[in-house]
This record gives sequence, structure tokens and C-alpha cells, in this order.
Amino acid sequence: MAKILVTGGSGYIGSSTIVDLVQNGYEVISIDNFSRGHEALLQGIAGILGKPVKNYAIDLCNMEDTRAVFEEHPDIEGIIHFAAYKSVPESVENPIMYFRNNLDALLNILQCAKEYDVKNFVFSSSCSVYGNAQTLPVTEQTAFMPAESPYARTKQMGENICQDFIRANPGFKAILLRYFNPVGAHASSLIGEYNKRPENLVPIITQTAIGKRESMTVFGSDYATRDGSCVRDYIHVSDIAHAHTLAVTKSLDNQLPDDCEIFNLGTGNGVTVLELIKAFEQESGVKLNYKLGDRRPGDVIAIYANNEKARQLLGWAPQYGVSEMMATAWKWEQHLDKCEKAHLN
Ligand code: WQD
Repeated sequence: MAKILVTGGSGYIGSSTIVDLVQNGYEVISIDNFSRGHEALLQGIAGILGKPVKNYAIDLCNMEDTRAVFEEHPDIEGIIHFAAYKSVPESVENPIMYFRNNLDALLNILQCAKEYDVKNFVFSSSCSVYGNAQTLPVTEQTAFMPAESPYARTKQMGENICQDFIRANPGFKAILLRYFNPVGAHASSLIGEYNKRPENLVPIITQTAIGKRESMTVFGSDYATRDGSCVRDYIHVSDIAHAHTLAVTKSLDNQLPDDCEIFNLGTGNGVTVLELIKAFEQESGVKLNYKLGDRRPGDVIAIYANNEKARQLLGWAPQYGVSEMMATAWKWEQHLDKCEKAHLN
């Protein structure tokens, strides 16, 4: 089976995608310099697969080091490019770092794809490219509103860079995957979202539940939504991972209509923050200590996906519902807590 290069392989979505690719017969190599990813996730991948996946701990912003990987692996047939910084608040504080890292890495990896004739490229994009969408659910044709953060703008620009690259290089193909809100963890609890100081909702919920945080705040309860809190389309990380395997397979088999295809990866169900907290409490049996607080600047009020195109063209169908998302997120937090305590003793 084909060899696939995964950048950001020791990240949250990258690690689950590597597992899915290998379990579907692909050979995988990874590039990750652990600037945001974690070596522990590579060990988790090895634990699940029963064998290690080769990782090159190089910086994709270094063209020479990036080329060296392609020199060593002239048989790479596809690239899945996850490696990017993705914290919305951090991008607001340090936009130059975000533009430099996220765009230089993308430009270098596309340059290598061209030089080494790797014609199948999957780009990790985000629902944040839609901004504060005026009509819901969003389809892939929904026009972009202004990005709410430099992070989201790097994803809007990244999509344009991929589209221009494909137009300039006949025979090359790109698939842009717009993730909604990835949550949950692999069923084995050996890989998941690994962030000591998360800003996103679900790890904050599980850290509060396990006692790492005294309490948490619901950012805004006066929005024009059914219960006043924001609406998001939460999607299990394993469903997101499998969509990448389907996408790269369709690309390798030349089964997609256009050379550059865009897909929404969401369940199509909008869930409010308060509804998610309730689902977590029901699933874990833990009463969450939260308070209703002020709105968070930059938050989109509501967004959820029309995922028909991914269902039709990729043959993708999300398997996990909100209760499994919460159950696997909780199991993962408990696993992390056990490891941290064992490490301390
Ligand atoms: C979800 C909702 C918060 C924390 C996501 C990804 C981000 C980026 C863009 C992904 C919002 C509320 C949160 C808390 C809360 N890239 N919340 N209390 O903002 O949709 O961003 O998409 O590709 O990485 O996270 O996700 O989880 O930060 O927030 O009330 O302590 O939860 O206000 O309404 P968001 P999030």
C-alpha cells in the first residue's frame, strides 16, 4: 500500500489519523518537531498498532531539513498536512508567529510536493474559515465572512495557497478538510488531546471534572440561541481521522471530480455549551462546577455543518454521538491523571 507522509503526526488529530491510516493498510511516516505535539502520543500510536511509526523531529519551516525527508523517502505518494499552531487566543497575541509558522510550513511542504512529484495533498483546514456565518448550516459553498482571529486567517490563506498551487500544477490534487470542533479520544485511551493548559471547551470540562481545575466558566449565556450559550458542531476525533483515510484513498484512486475538493467534517448537529456540559455530567456521573460568565471576544455565536458532500463523495459517515465523545474524553482525562500521578511517584 502507498506511503503517506503525515505532518503533525504527534498532535491530537494527526496521531488518530496515523492509527486509522495504518489500520487501513497504509505505510506512514511522520514529521513533528514536538513544538505543539507530544512524543507520548507517538508511544500511544505504537501501543495501539503494536509497532512504531517513524517520526522526523524537524521544523517544516526549515526547507533543507524538510527536503531531506523526501530525499530519504522518494516513494511518498500522499501528504496529509496537519502541522500548524491552532490556538485562537495565542494567535491574537502573536499574529506574526502564526503567519510565519503556519504559512512557511505550508509553502515548504507544497514546494517539496512539487519537487518530489507527490501529487496527493490533504490540507487540515477549519470551520473557523467561515467566520460568523450568516446562514446555517454552512455548506462548502458558504462564502467566508471575515476571519475572527489570525489563526482562522492562516486557514483562509492556506486554502487559497493550496488552490493556487493546484491551478499552477496540472496533475496535482488537493483536498481541503474543514474540521468543526474535534473532541473525544481514541477508544484505547492511549492517544487523545494532550494540552496542559487548554483553552478549548472539552479538555477544560474534563480537567474541571477530575479536579485539576476548581471550576470553569461558560463564556456567555445571553446569546440568541436556545439556551443562551454558543452552538458548535462537536465531532469525534476518530471520525475526523477516518475522513482523512477516505480522502487520501479517493485522491490516490483519482475518484474525485475536481483537482481541488473541499469538505466539511462535522456531524451536522449544533450543540450548545450547556447541552454539552449536561451530556458530560450524564456520561461521567460527575457534577460539574461551572459558572455563567461574560462572552469571550472572538467567539462565533453558532456554527454547524452541512456534511452531505463528504457523505456522498468520500463515503464518510460519522459513527460517534455526543455521549461517546464525552465518554472517551473522560476516559482519556482519567488515563492522563493516572500517568501523571504514576510519574510523580
Ligand atoms: C467552544 C465553545 C466557547 C472554553 C475551535 C477550536 C480551535 C480552532 C477553532 C480548530 C465556545 C465555549 C470554551 C471554556 C466556554 N481550531 N467555552 N468555556 O472557539 O469553537 O474553536 O475552532 O480547528 O482550536 O477549539 O472551540 O472549544 O474554544 O469553544 O464556555 O472554558 O465553548 O466560548 O462558545 P472554538 P472552543
